Amino acid sequence: MARQQIAGKVVAITGGARGIGKATAEEFLANGATVAIGDLDVELAEKTAVELAARPGARVIGLPLDVTDRASFANFLDEAESQLGGLDVLVNNAGIMPTGLFTDEADAMTDRMIDINLRGVLTGSKLACRRFARKGSGTIVNIASLAGMTAEAGIATYCGTKHAVVGFTEALRREQHGSGVNVTAVLPGIVRTELSAGANLPGWAENLTTVDPEDVARTVVTAVTRNKGRLTVPASLTATIKIMSLLPERARYGFARVTKLDHAFSDADLAQRAKYHHRLAGDAK
Ligand SMILES: NC(=O)c1ccc[n+]([C@@H]2O[C@H](COP(=O)([O-])OP(=O)(O)OC[C@H]3O[C@@H](n4cnc5c(N)ncnc54)[C@H](O)[C@@H]3O)[C@@H](O)[C@H]2O)c1
Repeated sequence: MARQQIAGKVVAITGGARGIGKATAEEFLANGATVAIGDLDVELAEKTAVELAARPGARVIGLPLDVTDRASFANFLDEAESQLGGLDVLVNNAGIMPTGLFTDEADAMTDRMIDINLRGVLTGSKLACRRFARKGSGTIVNIASLAGMTAEAGIATYCGTKHAVVGFTEALRREQHGSGVNVTAVLPGIVRTELSAGANLPGWAENLTTVDPEDVARTVVTAVTRNKGRLTVPASLTATIKIMSLLPERARYGFARVTKLDHAFSDADLAQRAKYHHRLAGDAK
């Protein structure tokens, strides 16, 4: 069923060289779409495209992209369309999540998180919406996060950007209602990628929230075929978020303290996070 709806579609994925973006590219290819992967790490984007192209019949290209640069984003979409055809789906996936206390965070990193996680999503959504308006159809999937509905110490700016993405996505969805352009937010819990390495979660919470990139990828494809406003991964998180939001603040704090959830990111394992933080430092140069 999904294959019938996805086959032949042209899909652009930001931050697609690794992690959730790469798995999403693979899932769209498996359903017969053609895919353009854009990433700041262009070498890895090209390598990933070659790797994914090994699947029989797969058509996938790796392109340079910096989502913080409007011209780069427009070039990415232009190049994807000139090589693959008119765009049908944009997945705004690129994002970063350094951990640590807000007061210790360098101003440049705060700005960078806003530029990538929020401004990049706004830029991509506007560029794609204008293209989709010309043909009267298209889908934008914004990868938000559970952190777009909850609030955790140690990732304050990240939470701020993801809350903004959730609100923006819903508002744009309403604005585009009836236009043929669908806008969806996908909210993963913790996903096993470098970005979340070292999160210090108690075992039960890990079981409740942690998934693989492939689980998110399947949900992104579902977001396109079912046109839902918001989807969590795992799906059971929707009920958890609802229940938590009904609790009074004191109960939520008490729950977080007892379960040690309030230290998951502020006390993350720094040795396990070193590789990721080192990559972010390299990207910023
Ligand atoms: N991993 C998790 O636990 C988790 C949970 C919820 C939401 N998310 C979200 O999912 C998305 C993907 O995360 P991931 O875990 O796959 O991360 P990742 O670090 O594995 O991959 C992110 C990719 O984005 C690219 N990127 C970074 N800055 C960019 C820029 N300016 N322009 C273009 N590309 C850029 C990176 O080079 C990298 O290849 C992010 O938006 C993240 O916030 C992740």
